[in-house]
Amino acid sequence: MTTVENKPVNPEVDAIRHHYEVSNDFYRLLLGPAMMYSGGYWAEGEDLRAGHDAAQFRKLDAFIEIAGAVGAERILDIGSGWGTLLDRATTVHDVKQAVGVTLSRTQKEFVDSLHNPRIDIKVESWEDHRTEEPYDAAFCVNALEHFVLSSLPPKERVKRFRAFFAQCHSLLKVDGRLVLHMMTIENPPLSRKLIDDLKFLQREEFQGCYIPHTNELVQAAEGLFEIIELRNERETFSQACRAWLENLAERRDEAVAMQGEEVVARFERYLDIFAYTLEDKIFNNFRIVLSRNA
Ligand SMILES: C[S@@+](CC[C@H](N)C(=O)[O-])C[C@H]1O[C@@H](n2cnc3c(N)ncnc32)[C@H](O)[C@@H]1O
Repeated sequence: MTTVENKPVNPEVDAIRHHYEVSNDFYRLLLGPAMMYSGGYWAEGEDLRAGHDAAQFRKLDAFIEIAGAVGAERILDIGSGWGTLLDRATTVHDVKQAVGVTLSRTQKEFVDSLHNPRIDIKVESWEDHRTEEPYDAAFCVNALEHFVLSSLPPKERVKRFRAFFAQCHSLLKVDGRLVLHMMTIENPPLSRKLIDDLKFLQREEFQGCYIPHTNELVQAAEGLFEIIELRNERETFSQACRAWLENLAERRDEAVAMQGEEVVARFERYLDIFAYTLEDKIFNNFRIVLSRNA
């Protein structure tokens, strides 16, 4: 049950809570038991819904391995959602302590209900997080899309991405890896429909959220991190959006009873926009593996 109060904090935090503090029951209906809100690694020919949880765990296993985090002492997940990466790392990959930061209080409630003593979950913004001991590895899985405001002028946006990489640099050990999954945008020919859909994403569903060009990220990381891998995996996210849309379609009446027609219609619209823009190669979803420089 959702027990948080809805007092406004500041526009950035409120915008995140507008989306992420819809009830955990609704998110469970949408996302299924894996409670992952990002792309998955489906095997060739695997059914989108039946294979969804396996695809999510396959992705998490790959991320944890590529980060060199198997058996690690301490890892950090920035924008940790409902804690599935933290739980998987500590229960399957023998990570001793997994720290997560999120702005959503309902997500923290959910993670607390896992009663996993190796998880430490904080309601805190990425820039406020501090640690006495540096982390062995860090992850940011489809969350960095929220960290830079579209209202900033272009140079300031790159500075803000650089502030994110500088923060990760200060939190990680030398040679510690940062694994990102992150949407970026190409330069699409703008149809009326695409303009309306992008406006809807930025003004209504994810207020102020900015999807960068890939080169802005590369520029922002320069000198702080070595880029080990940059790999476009856009189908991982479009497939997940399609699976969630099918979940919602099958149990639409229940979803409306929980959250109302307006919320359900908003989710249907934004998921469809994400799915088609990824399929049409307007948005990318990059896996970016970085190693912290000295
Ligand atoms: C799309 S969800 C992804 C969640 C999770 N990584 C996953 O893959 O399921 C984005 C997450 O970013 C978090 N977030 C957004 N802005 C944040 C901020 N400024 N600091 C920390 N977390 C933030 C949200 O609360 C949410 O947990």
